[in-house]
Amino acid sequence: LSSLKTEVIGRDIRVFEETTSTNDVVERLARDGVKEGVVVFAESQTKGRGRLGRIWMSPARQGLWFSILLRPQLRPTSVTQLTIAAATALFRAIRSQTGVRPEIKWPNDILIDGKKVAGILTELSAELDKVKYIILGVGVDVNLSAADFPPELRKIATSLKVESGQRINRAELAVRILQEMDRDYERVCSGQFESVAGEWAEHCSTIGRNVTIHVGDRKIQGCAESLDTDGALLVRTQHGHLERIIGGDVKLEK
Ligand code: BTN
Repeated sequence: LSSLKTEVIGRDIRVFEETTSTNDVVERLARDGVKEGVVVFAESQTKGRGRLGRIWMSPARQGLWFSILLRPQLRPTSVTQLTIAAATALFRAIRSQTGVRPEIKWPNDILIDGKKVAGILTELSAELDKVKYIILGVGVDVNLSAADFPPELRKIATSLKVESGQRINRAELAVRILQEMDRDYERVCSGQFESVAGEWAEHCSTIGRNVTIHVGDRKIQGCAESLDTDGALLVRTQHGHLERIIGGDVKLEK
């Protein structure tokens, strides 16, 4: 990781052998007032978590499990922009480092051939109408074999090794991801979200597809038309209404 050249993200890097969740470690650092840009990696997590309260499997040395602390001057409602930017950066890094052809699923899953290979968990702390800090937790299934996934996950999850047919150097991939994220963080903070969103939309397999989305108890069905300026997904329902989706689980229909 010593070859890393970035402005903000990764200027302070801490590596743990094992943690509960790297998001927890970064949250403690955030509360202690640590500057933005710190990145915490763990070789394994005992309580890795995904979006929507799911468990995130984090076996030792097989993947990249890390979290980034950011303190952007954004309104809490614009936080989706950062998630979109992080997904775009993750996409670029994975594509260039491994040669596989990934796609983005809204808002921030990276898929290969329809199976998930990486995800981002964004956690926000806000006060009144200001962001105090944001934690971006990134999980990439790098060198897991197919047999490392429990049977129920094999149809929906995969690894870069399985898809590319070769072991991937985790340190080189980590450097590339942090460099790409640093670049996109700067783009969002300097008001260039539109150009990031354009790049995101080009690689997002969700736009133009029929989707079913569960938001709490509500089920929304329709066609994912485009991305709103703040990163929300705009879905045209069968009744012709345009719904703004800011969270939830998207299922891509055939
Ligand atoms: C998702 O559900 O797609 C998000 C997965 C995020 C997993 C990463 S691994 C590092 C960080 N620590 C966690 O507990 N979760 C995130």
